[in-house]
Amino acid sequence: MKAFIVYCHPSEDSLTRNLRDEFIKGIIDSGNEYVLSDLYKMDFKADMTEQEYLRDANYRDYPEVASDVLEEQEKINSSDAIVFIYPVFWTEAPAKLVGWFDRVWSYGFAYGNKSMKMLEKGVILCSAGNPEYRLERLGLLGSMKKVMFGDRLFNRVKQTEFVLFDSTSREKEERETNWENNLKKAYQKGKTLFSQTEEGFSLEDRYFTAISNSDTGEVSDETIFSYHQKGNVIWAEYSGGSIIKGFLLGTIDDNNNLHFDYRHINTDGESRSGSCNSKPVLENGKLRFYEHWKWTDGCEGTSVIEEI
Ligand SMILES: Cc1cc2nc3c(=O)[nH]c(=O)nc-3n(C[C@H](O)[C@H](O)[C@H](O)COP(=O)(O)O)c2cc1C
Repeated sequence: MKAFIVYCHPSEDSLTRNLRDEFIKGIIDSGNEYVLSDLYKMDFKADMTEQEYLRDANYRDYPEVASDVLEEQEKINSSDAIVFIYPVFWTEAPAKLVGWFDRVWSYGFAYGNKSMKMLEKGVILCSAGNPEYRLERLGLLGSMKKVMFGDRLFNRVKQTEFVLFDSTSREKEERETNWENNLKKAYQKGKTLFSQTEEGFSLEDRYFTAISNSDTGEVSDETIFSYHQKGNVIWAEYSGGSIIKGFLLGTIDDNNNLHFDYRHINTDGESRSGSCNSKPVLENGKLRFYEHWKWTDGCEGTSVIEEI
C-alpha cells in the first residue's frame, strides 16, 4: 500500500518536520510505501492563475490543468491514502497548503465528473501551539476538522483521522516535555496507517442522511445529521426536509450499537421527541445505521441512515 504525504512547513527547524520523519519511518517499518510532496521545498505555486480560476468557476474541463497540478493528481491516483502534515496557522493549514487545495482539487478531478480515485484513508497530522482543551472549547478544533473532512476530504476518502499534537508553541514547557512522546505517536500512526480497521470507529465529525424511513418518520434524504463522539457518548445536530432543528444524545455500547433520545421542531412548528436504537453496518465502504425508533406517543418505525 502507498501513502501520499503532503507536507507543508516553512522551516526544517520544527517539530512538524520531526513528526513527518517519524511518521515516514513508521510507514517504512510496516512494509508500506510513500511518496512525498514537500510544498515549500518544491516551491509549490499556491495562487491560482486567472485562467485556472475561470476554468473551475465555469465548471469547464479545459484548458488542461498545469503540469505541476497534474503531477500532484497523479500522486493521489497512484496512492491508497493521503496524509497531510502541517502546523496550524490561524486555525487553518499554512497558506501554501490551502492554495494546493485550490489548484489540485480542480474541476473534473475532485468535483464534477471527477477522475480522483476514492482513497482508503485521509489522515491529518497537525501541530498546534494551543492546548487541545482551548481549541476544543472555543470551537476552533471543530472548525479545522469541518473544513478538512466536511469539505476538502468529504466523500473522497473512506476513513478519516485527525491527529493533533497540541501545546507545541516554543514558549510552552510542554513542547519539550512532550517531544519524545509526540515523535513516538507519529511513528505509531505511520506504522499502523494501513492496519487500522473500522473496529473501534469514531463518529466524530461524520455526516449522515436518511436513505429510507417508515411513513410515520420525519427525517428524509433532505435531512443532514452532524455526528460527534467523545468516549461512549454520542450526539448529533440535524436539520433539513421537514425538520427545522433537531438534537439527539445517547451512548454507544461495546458492540458499537447506538442508543439515543431525539427531539426536534418540524416545519409545522411541532416539538417531537422519541428514542432510537441503531446498529451501524459497514457496506461498500460506507457506514449505515439500521435504526428502530419510537416516538414518545408510542408510534414506532425503522429507517436507514447512510454516511455522506
Ligand atoms: C503564523 C502563525 C500562526 C499560528 N496560528 C496558530 C493558531 O491559530 N492556533 C494554534 O494553536 N497555533 C498557532 N500557531 C502555532 C503553531 O501551530 C506552532 O508554533 C507550531 O505548531 C509549532 O510547531 P513547529 O515547531 O513545527 O513550528 C501559529 C504559528 C504561526 C507562526
